[in-house]
Amino acid sequence: MPAMADIGRSWMSVEVVDMLNIAMPKGRLGDRVYNMLKEAGYACPEMERPDRRLIFENPEVGVRYFWVKPSDVTIYVERGAADLGIAGKDILLENQPELYELLDLKTGICRMAVAGMKGFVDRRERKLRVATKFPHIAGSFYAEQSRDVELIKLNGSIELAPILGLSDVIVDIVETGKTLAENGLEVYDTVCPISARLVANPASYRFMKMEILKLTAKLAEQIP
Ligand code: PRP
Repeated sequence: MPAMADIGRSWMSVEVVDMLNIAMPKGRLGDRVYNMLKEAGYACPEMERPDRRLIFENPEVGVRYFWVKPSDVTIYVERGAADLGIAGKDILLENQPELYELLDLKTGICRMAVAGMKGFVDRRERKLRVATKFPHIAGSFYAEQSRDVELIKLNGSIELAPILGLSDVIVDIVETGKTLAENGLEVYDTVCPISARLVANPASYRFMKMEILKLTAKLAEQIP
């Protein structure tokens, strides 16, 4: 039977405090930003092997990476489970977490937009029904225009809402525009541009300022 120490080997070292803990968004954006971090001198070779582990570290360069759901990155960073994280501006605007935004990575570029069925005409005297994963962003956007809206919070496949008559428009991320086009929808307005940001927990920033500023400067050199 393996010793307890062997079973837990991969995560027991989480107790070590002098490494920078970095919450990475699982998926294409995370892979892209990991490559930037690697080029910046923060590689973690174990992470490049295809397996299902979620936590990796390279003590030689002082980093520990976690793969988390993109929308959860700010939760880990805000609560101090991670010192740094990579989060989309959409999540930062929507959740307004208490953390520091250190760098615009100029990757994961897309926009938050209002879209509806082709030919949709907004009759302003009527309350507009808006389906979105981002009720705070959508609510603020229409509040600035003093537009009366009904927000319908969905968790995905937002494009279905106007097709099925659940809403008049959607407020959602548009990257290539393919999802809209293939579902017969078009953009009516742009809410704001979006890109990936490096964020820090404020307490970690105070206690590990040298390490964090060094990583931020090295990563800035990799920005396309
Ligand atoms: C996002 C967004 C759009 C799509 C836009 O969805 O909500 O549906 O990407 O990308 P495009 O302009 O390049 O087509 P996501 O893939 O996150 O899936 P979801 O439906 O679960 O939100």
